[in-house]
Amino acid sequence: MKRLWKCAVVLGVGLLMTAAVCSGLAAEEQSEKKPQRRPDVIFVPTPQDVVEKMLELAEVTKDDVVYDLGCGDGRIVVTAAKKYGCKAVGIDIDPQRVKESLERVKKNKVEHLVTIKEGDIFQEDLTPASVITLYLLPSLNVKLIPQLQKLKPGSRIVSHSFDMEGVKPEKVVHYEAKDGITHTIYLWRAPIKLEKEEKDER
Ligand SMILES: C[S@@+](CC[C@H](N)C(=O)[O-])C[C@H]1O[C@@H](n2cnc3c(N)ncnc32)[C@H](O)[C@@H]1O
Repeated sequence: MKRLWKCAVVLGVGLLMTAAVCSGLAAEEQSEKKPQRRPDVIFVPTPQDVVEKMLELAEVTKDDVVYDLGCGDGRIVVTAAKKYGCKAVGIDIDPQRVKESLERVKKNKVEHLVTIKEGDIFQEDLTPASVITLYLLPSLNVKLIPQLQKLKPGSRIVSHSFDMEGVKPEKVVHYEAKDGITHTIYLWRAPIKLEKEEKDER
């Protein structure tokens, strides 16, 4: 009888410890993870109708691979996958944004098409992309030029609001969105050329 009690106590303590470890893990998972470094720009979402206009301007098809650099809550990559059936990759440095993007991917059942990565866009190989979407800052667009110059010919780059100093866009669209604001969208096509290089060639 005494041995039975001993067994019950050991089992009980074991169960309690397992529960404590599990709840500790759950608490750790729930606490907000900090970005590996400060994001270069804060999260401001592109309005949904502007997202659609950007993808339309980039002439996205099901054969494209759309990369959103700084994907925020994942709305651009999820829209691309849902509307065009293409593959899409969203990259964000902020774990909170990655979590939101993954939730959106799951909610829209596009896990088979969309990948969300936590990382720094300046450390990424962008060559698998055929469409790049941006809503960053003018200086960050310029900082991306060396990576964008490596894109496959015919790849498109669309940027919400901000241009890329030194690289002439193929098109600039002023779109009056449902929020009553006129949003500017820039389009470039690879291979992108610096205006300086173009002048030298002439
Ligand atoms: C203005 S929001 C744009 C969000 C989304 N692309 C959209 O248009 O709705 C910019 C996003 O870039 C992310 N970000 C800033 N610096 C970054 C970096 N170096 N690498 C990856 N993501 C970054 C921010 O966390 C933020 O979510």
